[in-house]
Amino acid sequence: MAEALPVVVLISGNGSNLQAIIDATREQRLPLDIRLVVSNRPEAYGLARARAAGIPTRVIDHHDHADRADFDGALATAIDEYGGPNALVVLAGFMRILTDEFVNHYRGRLVNIHPSLLPKYKGLNTHARVLAAGERESGATVHFVTPALDDGPIILQARVPVKAGDTPERLAQRVHAAEHLLYPRALTLIAQGTVRMDTENNLTLWNDQPATPEQQQLDLPAA
Ligand code: GRF
Repeated sequence: MAEALPVVVLISGNGSNLQAIIDATREQRLPLDIRLVVSNRPEAYGLARARAAGIPTRVIDHHDHADRADFDGALATAIDEYGGPNALVVLAGFMRILTDEFVNHYRGRLVNIHPSLLPKYKGLNTHARVLAAGERESGATVHFVTPALDDGPIILQARVPVKAGDTPERLAQRVHAAEHLLYPRALTLIAQGTVRMDTENNLTLWNDQPATPEQQQLDLPAA
């Protein structure tokens, strides 16, 4: 097995993606070493999930910081203290906009999951917008983070069908289930060294070549 990649996970809420990463790391022996879980919200349920798994947790509440730069500085201090200089920073339902300085500092080792098939439906309320537009499919995307919101190079996507009678909640559930397979897989590709970001050209590389659309798709078992 490859040497485990140090990982710091940032959350704001339920943490079901965090749980999927924890479970997959254990069950599938993924080469990930989750060193710390940080939440900006003290009540985030994901903190309890981390504690139950024996992972250190920190609350860094944005209300306790004068501005974004100050908050991001505190985040960076915790990340570097627990994760060391090469940790992968994993945004898993982290609901704060990060400063360009923070994003550029961690460029190439900062990843996010978004509940749509990017570049479509950046931002919030994706499921309602997908349904309003009459889309036949939706999905989730794991991408490297760059300063523009939900715009960085795509690592991996999973597609799900939109079904007759879907509500935003039902579609969200289907997308969430896909996310739980997608995120561990994408992190494994990074940990194994198969995937990395070309930070100069803003590209995802697979084995040092620009990723192809086929490589960026994760086929899921039909639900
Ligand atoms: C997910 O839908 C993710 O795509 C989005 O926030 C949600 C987090 O859910 N960025 P959870 O906290 O992992 O359950």
